[in-house]
Amino acid sequence: MQITETERTVREAERTRSRPPGPPARKAGALERIRYGLNFYFDPFGFVGSRFAEYGDTYYVAAEGQPGLYVFRGPEEIYDVLVARAKSFRKTHSAFRDLGEVLGEAGLLTTDGETWRTHRRIVQPAFSPKRMDDYGRVMIEETVNEAERWRVGETVDVAAAMMELTLRVVARTLFGHDAAGDVDAVRDAMRTLQEGLVGRAVPMPRWLDFAGRRREAAVASLDALIARMVAARRAAGGEGRTDLLQRLLDAEDADTGARLSDREIRDHLVTFFLAGHETTSNALAWAFHLLGENPAQRARLEAHLDEVLGDRDPTPADFARLGFTTQVLEEAMRLRPPVYVLARQAAEEVRIGRWTLPAGSEVVVWLWHTHHDARFYPDPERFEPDRFAPEAKAALPRGAYLPFGLGPRICIGKHFALMEGTLMLATLARRWRLEPVAGPPKLFPRVTLSPKGGLPMVPFAR
Ligand code: HEM
Repeated sequence: MQITETERTVREAERTRSRPPGPPARKAGALERIRYGLNFYFDPFGFVGSRFAEYGDTYYVAAEGQPGLYVFRGPEEIYDVLVARAKSFRKTHSAFRDLGEVLGEAGLLTTDGETWRTHRRIVQPAFSPKRMDDYGRVMIEETVNEAERWRVGETVDVAAAMMELTLRVVARTLFGHDAAGDVDAVRDAMRTLQEGLVGRAVPMPRWLDFAGRRREAAVASLDALIARMVAARRAAGGEGRTDLLQRLLDAEDADTGARLSDREIRDHLVTFFLAGHETTSNALAWAFHLLGENPAQRARLEAHLDEVLGDRDPTPADFARLGFTTQVLEEAMRLRPPVYVLARQAAEEVRIGRWTLPAGSEVVVWLWHTHHDARFYPDPERFEPDRFAPEAKAALPRGAYLPFGLGPRICIGKHFALMEGTLMLATLARRWRLEPVAGPPKLFPRVTLSPKGGLPMVPFAR
């Protein structure tokens, strides 16, 4: 059907009206991609922040030959994307293609639709409240062992220590003891993956892509380790085991009786190794850094721990009584969210706030900027755990605080992580006062946000 010039003008006007303001269209050329990649790579928060300052809470980036990109920081739009209109979005997003390759076709982080629903149902019971007490005991035991290794006045890289600690906890709680002896190998593979996944600022040919090749080697060693772990458990039998690994091995389709394939089991295990330790470990490292920079808040935490625990280590039952410790962690995750950006793709045309997004549009939620917005967090750079006192927290607008995401794809390990972070922080801060060695570490935003170059601190006995 022919359309008239007027109709074409009206349609074009409608289309453009439905687009937020934004920078001029990016050209598809290699040089332009490299320039954009480098600007973004060296200071993503500054780069994106200056665009929000120029264009407002939502901006649009057109790219020749590719779907446009909508970038959000406003709580209402965020709530629409992640909760109210979640069904209209997929997790696929060009930025995470490499991550999907590593995590495979069954891992929860990167799958969608019926596959995701089926697998989330299988995995969910491993995170039920009645499993948490057992997990809590392991969390405390491992942390006490760590605390006993520290020596007065001897510098500890707190970031590295938290990484090993949380990895040991995931290995023991979710996969049984089998993985405990392989912690070093898993840690090294994970470090390489971080570097190789989002570390590339610019597209490059395979022969030059050293990070990509190291990533493939890391994946291969992780796969071999997982295959050994699964074979050992199968050989030993699952009698009396209720952990995640056993659930995956025993899961059976109610209609067909089909079991998960080895590949699917592998995808879950890699996903949980990756998602289950780095995030919590970064949250803890940043919490210790912020406490070191804010002695008055650290003194409040110590007084609270003295009151709740006296001179004993916590038990899992103390979690509910360690409210202020959890607030410290929540405030640390506001200022330094381990996952600082979320990405989606519109599966169909969808309305978000004032905008109509065509199918195929890419969407990015910059929760870092939401968490640093003075409209919701007055004096936003100040470390103030009272922001998360129960009443203050309840008064926050929905969509303004989302370290674990929101909606159906919310972190499955949220409760696990809050309990782990709280019990570990309480166990360590009760015994040790950590003083910073150097100035504030630089931000190192990759798959997760870590302190660049680690976090050296010196422990003093309390
Ligand atoms: C402080 C610690 C943690 C933070 C900040 C965190 C953050 C997040 C966020 C933001 C998402 C949603 C991503 C999105 O919407 O695109 C997510 C998903 C996920 N997280 Fe966590 N996480 C943490 C700890 C954990 C732990 C301890 C586990 C497992 C033991 C875990 C496993 C997962 C999994 C499997 C998903 C995908 C869920 C799905 O889509 O069904 N996370 N996490």
